[in-house]
Amino acid sequence: MTTLLDEGALTAARTWCAGAPVEVHEQIGSTNDRVAELAAGGAPEGTLVVARVQTAGRGRRGKTWASPAGGLYFSLLLRPREESLRSGLPATLVAGLALCEALESLTPAEVRPQLKWPNDVLIEGKKVSGILGEMSRDDRGPALVLGLGINVGAAVLPAELAASATQLPEVGATPSPEEVLGAFFERFGPLWSRLDGNSQADSDPSAREAFLRAAAERMPSLGGPVRLHLPNAVVEGTFRRLSPSGGLVLERDGVEKTYLAGEVQAARPQ
Ligand code: BTN
Repeated sequence: MTTLLDEGALTAARTWCAGAPVEVHEQIGSTNDRVAELAAGGAPEGTLVVARVQTAGRGRRGKTWASPAGGLYFSLLLRPREESLRSGLPATLVAGLALCEALESLTPAEVRPQLKWPNDVLIEGKKVSGILGEMSRDDRGPALVLGLGINVGAAVLPAELAASATQLPEVGATPSPEEVLGAFFERFGPLWSRLDGNSQADSDPSAREAFLRAAAERMPSLGGPVRLHLPNAVVEGTFRRLSPSGGLVLERDGVEKTYLAGEVQAARPQ
């Protein structure tokens, strides 16, 4: 059975930037598109669009994101500082760690959500959430639309995802979408404010170090051989560490190089 989303509870769950607009849709094309529209009209940071179903959900690298009833689909508007765009941590990675911690708080004790660089969230090696960040600029400066698709409930996913995707009921958890959203914002809001520095004179360097340590601890491929898929190439090497700006430091033949985007796949040791 599918239930309707509770607009009041979702609005209350967005504990960060309370006061910014919230829209809740039973069905929409893409929540990212809707937030981009609102951003173009001057919407403030924290603007949130949530949907129960998307008919044109988008994933990274031009893929579609299956968005049937039972999942949670939402997009959030961020207005990062220029400085944090140049040298800060990507908001998508920050959202990934916040979501790992949120899901850990809502699932049985033995469940430890993991991060697949740069920002997929996995449980037991299968994807439970994908995150899409889309940047634009308007007269208020940079606008970043952060979209999250989370396999919260028992949805009918396409058969081709059976081996690679999971849903929270498969690991014995049945939180409501409102609870998941609340647990996410409880972590994301303070983390983003500290890292972006929007609410302070400057961002906090010790917060960045703590963030990088916590993110690294949730990346099982770190330290091992990986294959990194780039738009026009595939490179192999050892995933040495995260760079100060959340990039992947890859070592090949004794030479280290930092990548800021790509798709990681664990490779077999030689
Ligand atoms: C990925 O892993 O490829 C990213 C998937 C992002 C999906 C979310 S669902 C809410 C928001 N609206 C979209 O159209 N896409 C994102």
